[in-house]
Amino acid sequence: MDMLVVQGGCTLRGDVYVDGAKNAALPIMAASILLAGDVRIKRVPDLVDVQTMSLLLQSLGAKVTRSEGSLDIDTRDVASQHADYELVRRMRASVCVLGPLIARFGRASVSLPGGCNIGHRPIDLHLKGLAALGADLRIERGYVIAEASQLRGADVFLGGPGGSTVTGTCNVMTAACLAKGRTIIRAAASEPEVADLGRFLNDAGARISGLGTSTVEITGVEGLTSVTHTVIPDRIEAATFAIAAAATRGEISIHDVRPGQMTSVIEALRAIGVAIHVTDDRIDISASGPLRSVELAALPFPGIPTDTQAQFMALLATVAGISVVTDRVFPDRFMHASELVRMGAAVRREGASVVIDGGGRLTGTSVMASDLRASAALVIAALAADGESQIRRIYHLDRGYARLEQKLNGLGADVFRRPDVATSTKRPHYLQEDSIGNKESEVHLD
Ligand code: UD1
Repeated sequence: MDMLVVQGGCTLRGDVYVDGAKNAALPIMAASILLAGDVRIKRVPDLVDVQTMSLLLQSLGAKVTRSEGSLDIDTRDVASQHADYELVRRMRASVCVLGPLIARFGRASVSLPGGCNIGHRPIDLHLKGLAALGADLRIERGYVIAEASQLRGADVFLGGPGGSTVTGTCNVMTAACLAKGRTIIRAAASEPEVADLGRFLNDAGARISGLGTSTVEITGVEGLTSVTHTVIPDRIEAATFAIAAAATRGEISIHDVRPGQMTSVIEALRAIGVAIHVTDDRIDISASGPLRSVELAALPFPGIPTDTQAQFMALLATVAGISVVTDRVFPDRFMHASELVRMGAAVRREGASVVIDGGGRLTGTSVMASDLRASAALVIAALAADGESQIRRIYHLDRGYARLEQKLNGLGADVFRRPDVATSTKRPHYLQEDSIGNKESEVHLD
């Protein structure tokens, strides 16, 4: 297992280019099995999660090939409708094959993703939506077993206690493409990644309107055809670099982004005192002036993404004054807090919030990453800290950030990867690396 060694105290400067969005690429890959033909997806990030989804599609019978940032998926020979626990447990987004399998084959058995390290993550809304379309669903031995002779359009409400559901909306919208008649999804997730999936489906012949709003309408069609699609930029990756620049009081330009999809992040950074200039596809960040503490809350889109909450916490630990960070989407997503405390941050949890008494000195040390965005937060804190940090269990980072060290070092950081002897030896077999580099037998999320 590898760790990242970060020399703190740097100031990020320069230019960085953002990859395609993981959370758009994964459901689009899953939706490719709705059709029998050729799908080309461009600007697919080179991530472990993408490898996991490729393996899952291959296990169903699809042919997946990667070349220069694109994925080619031939879905003609998809014959299996079984998504095995061994693959689903690695990544929650695997559940996105459920809707496409039911719609194309009228049957599916998909493992439940199981427990998770950012709190309780049910899929009841996915199941409610698919049942409304006429799927007969039952849970047996940890699998969702679905059957449907003919899906029919329905009026579906997908709101839940944490807002709408992103992958649930993907599942229901995708299945509804081949349902008979019209489906209306109310309280649909309006995240840009859901809209990107919708555009992919429309380009393949689906009839979806209302994308990017909370009411999505789908008129079923007979079938979809081969398609080429380019994935939108990763707004979470872009936000992570913006926050890292602010935490190091740096000055960077982030290229190949859609600033209009990041308004809440940009506004939060401005409230903190970061100067931001936006053009069509670039964000210029300058954090040379004084920064202020703030109160902020992670909310469904267009609010601040929960996937940037941990990174904001790391930044606010460097800013003098009391800040409050609340997560209304995943109220338990605070495993990074105790590791930040080990680096010297003064952080106190209060329900779905943390109170940060920021501005004290952060010091480098050895910390353990607990999930993807928590890992990013630890890297940010390490960049801003005095001295050296070792960030362990960075396989989480490889799920969601492509070439992170190279990109940070291109901005003047000193980050390198080396084998982590402490976690490589004497590990029980279930904690060791598997064939595609997933290093632990836990369910990976986000
Ligand atoms: C997706 C993203 C993840 C992000 C999250 C919230 C992907 C692959 N992952 O995850 O990065 O952190 O959205 O923006 O796109 N809920 C229910 N019942 C359900 C489903 C969800 O109550 O059936 C709740 C969840 O507990 C949570 C909220 O709804 O409180 C949002 O979860 P959801 O949008 O479903 O997250 P994911 O789609 O799994």
